[in-house]
Amino acid sequence: MDLDGTPANPNILRADLALIGFGHVGRRFLTLLEDRRDHLLREFQLECRIVGIATASHGAVASLEGIDTRLATARRIAGQQLGSEATSIDVIRCLGRSNAALRVMVEATTLCITDGQPAIAYAEAALDCGCHVISANKGPVSFAYRRLSDLARRSQRSFLFEGAVMDGVPIFNLVREAMPAVTVTGFRGILNTTTQHILSAVEQGESFAEALARMQAEGIAESDPSLDTEGWDAAAKAAALANVLMDADMTPHAVEREAVTPATADAARTALKKGHKLRLVASAEGRDGNVRARVRLTEIAADALLATLPCSANALILSTDLLGEVAICQMGGDLTQTAYALFSDLATIARRRAASMLS
Ligand SMILES: NC(=O)c1ccc[n+]([C@@H]2O[C@H](COP(=O)([O-])OP(=O)(O)OC[C@H]3O[C@@H](n4cnc5c(N)ncnc54)[C@H](OP(=O)(O)O)[C@@H]3O)[C@@H](O)[C@H]2O)c1
Repeated sequence: MDLDGTPANPNILRADLALIGFGHVGRRFLTLLEDRRDHLLREFQLECRIVGIATASHGAVASLEGIDTRLATARRIAGQQLGSEATSIDVIRCLGRSNAALRVMVEATTLCITDGQPAIAYAEAALDCGCHVISANKGPVSFAYRRLSDLARRSQRSFLFEGAVMDGVPIFNLVREAMPAVTVTGFRGILNTTTQHILSAVEQGESFAEALARMQAEGIAESDPSLDTEGWDAAAKAAALANVLMDADMTPHAVEREAVTPATADAARTALKKGHKLRLVASAEGRDGNVRARVRLTEIAADALLATLPCSANALILSTDLLGEVAICQMGGDLTQTAYALFSDLATIARRRAASMLS
């Protein structure tokens, strides 16, 4: 790149990115971006620069000349401040002033289950100043999908969130790109890895607390693990799926919900004696936007697909009008897959831009 960030080769597109939220997912995304830099150049003629990073308590940095991300990562690891007192909104506005061909806010802040904020406000601010939005956070899509997708359409920008449900497994891409004219009439699935792991572990005699502690140590559990155990994470995913795939306009609070508690261990072992598995199943059914969604502890016959999943797996079964039931499984999720979801959203934006230049 030249000093002003213009790629030396005029066929190369510059994408400036701001990372709002720089925890497990944000940092892994940055690593993946570095790792697949050559792929982005070769396949999408895309050269990415980070021009902003914002956190809740470690400060923020923004520079239209690009940020030395090695330094940002090192500072984060040392637990020091990233830099200025700038806010996330300052970083987003800085991104909005970039002259790059693509400006992308990469949002990976924690889910606020009360109202999805401030992530929704970040997405609105980014779209308002002409940036695309990609998010690993369930908040925006589960609380404000209709509003944000309308705003994105009006701004001719993308609002993408593949990582919000089943990490990098392409649920939304699958339906959008590969299932034209298909109506999704319902779904059921196991969407929360932490509770899936806990329920599998307590069947084997392990305690609820031990199984949860392992999920926290591996960075799989939410920062606030009650979001997993009380069913909120699954409810947010159910709302996201219902909003996007079934044209609902609901929030996680409209999803009927049950929790996995230490007492659930006994119920899981009792179910096992009957040849069943107790699992936290998220489901929805309905038509024309009139959708009922639930997250319920459900006893499943041991040979049913959802009961045969390993403890680290998630699965979603879509009920459709033209394709019958379509199942998609994720045999094991980790941070790389969530980071990949953001990466695939970035690739989608690059593809859409290339297609709009051709048409
Ligand atoms: N971890 C997973 O396996 C996984 C899988 C799928 C989806 N997700 C979703 O991805 C998102 C990020 O997860 P994570 O594991 O990376 O969480 P995390 O490690 O707790 O990191 C969250 C980051 O967001 C920052 N942050 C929180 N609130 C903020 C705010 N209001 N404004 C600006 N920055 C804020 C935090 O700042 P500080 O550093 O100052 O705390 C931190 O940098 C979550 O929404 C999560 O549900 C995670």
